[in-house]
Amino acid sequence: MSLSRRNFLRALGAGAAVGAVQLPFSQITSAAVLEPPRNREPGGPILLDSNENAYGASRRVMAAMRDALGTANRYPFAQYDTLEDRIAGSHGIKRDQILVGCGSTEILRVATAAFLGRDKKLIVPVPTFEAIEQYAKSTGCQITAVPLNRELAHDLDATVIHTKGSPSLVYICNPNNPTATLTPRKAIETFISRLPANTYVLIDEAYHHFAGESAMYASFIDKPVEHDRVIVSRTFSKIYGLAGLRLGYAVAAPATIQQMRPYMTMDNINSIVARAAMVALEDQESIQESMKRNTDDRQEFFNQAMARMLKPIDSHTNFVMMNTDHPAEETIQHFKKNGILIGRRFPPMDTYIRVSLGTPDEMKAFWNVWDRLPYSKMSM
Ligand SMILES: Cc1ncc(COP(=O)(O)O)c(C=O)c1O
Repeated sequence: MSLSRRNFLRALGAGAAVGAVQLPFSQITSAAVLEPPRNREPGGPILLDSNENAYGASRRVMAAMRDALGTANRYPFAQYDTLEDRIAGSHGIKRDQILVGCGSTEILRVATAAFLGRDKKLIVPVPTFEAIEQYAKSTGCQITAVPLNRELAHDLDATVIHTKGSPSLVYICNPNNPTATLTPRKAIETFISRLPANTYVLIDEAYHHFAGESAMYASFIDKPVEHDRVIVSRTFSKIYGLAGLRLGYAVAAPATIQQMRPYMTMDNINSIVARAAMVALEDQESIQESMKRNTDDRQEFFNQAMARMLKPIDSHTNFVMMNTDHPAEETIQHFKKNGILIGRRFPPMDTYIRVSLGTPDEMKAFWNVWDRLPYSKMSM
């Protein structure tokens, strides 16, 4: 009988998922972007490095993309309103609460342009997805990095202290990339209720679909709080398998959306992704399948890890972070030499690797290469 993932973590005595993880957070002031170049050629490396959907878009979405190719000579004007309506409809909200972006990364960029600048502050957790910090730098704002807490959740008590004074934008990534951890819903609600009136909060829900049923988690789109300065971002790059076509969106109060809109790139949505996304939203059966498949793949990863006495952090996403007790760069290079790209380094978690879940064959290759590491089995 295979042990469940949560039982496995309990069996390891990991307590609340990761328990007392000690990290040298004090050594870091800002996260670095260390993304390696990616070979997309057929026969190139196995890509377990960017948390994509390894299985691709659903059959219905693939068909919609093929049908849309014939519209490639036309600007996508006509698609915007319908796409925004469909996204709004899928959440039971109005179109004026939606802003579509060229990937959710554009939403992050636009938030920094609209809400930051000199004499303002971006407050980010460390480690997290670094894009917003990179964009914020160009606004000349101050950047304050707040280490994750011992449970590897956002340290919201420390964050609220930093919101005093200059106007700020707070980035909350939930579930968080790269740790795959959740920050409890209740803690975020309390945090929002304590914020000064000059603070905006961007909640990045890129991995929403993988968070699963948990009292700890509820989306701030599906279960909103009454707060004009909360912006939620989502992407079509993960569960929908459309990372290469670039589509994301923000949900916020109409007035907040209006503040962001002037900073968007004109015609930022292509006509193919617009059609694909509309079908993807409708294709509930495929979304459910995709979620179930991820749960199974994640379970299998934990089974394999358990067999090797490894201790990954409990994951609420389509990737897993794991302490190897060796410099991450060594492990990254070992995999690279053997034709597999895994996630970049995420200082200060310098002995942890981040592995995106691939197909069963890809994961079999991953574990074969893992077993060739001198420290492939951990001692308890
Ligand atoms: C937390 C998080 N937000 C946003 C993104 C970017 O997504 P998109 O492809 O929509 O730009 C990523 C990509 O990996 C991510 O991990």
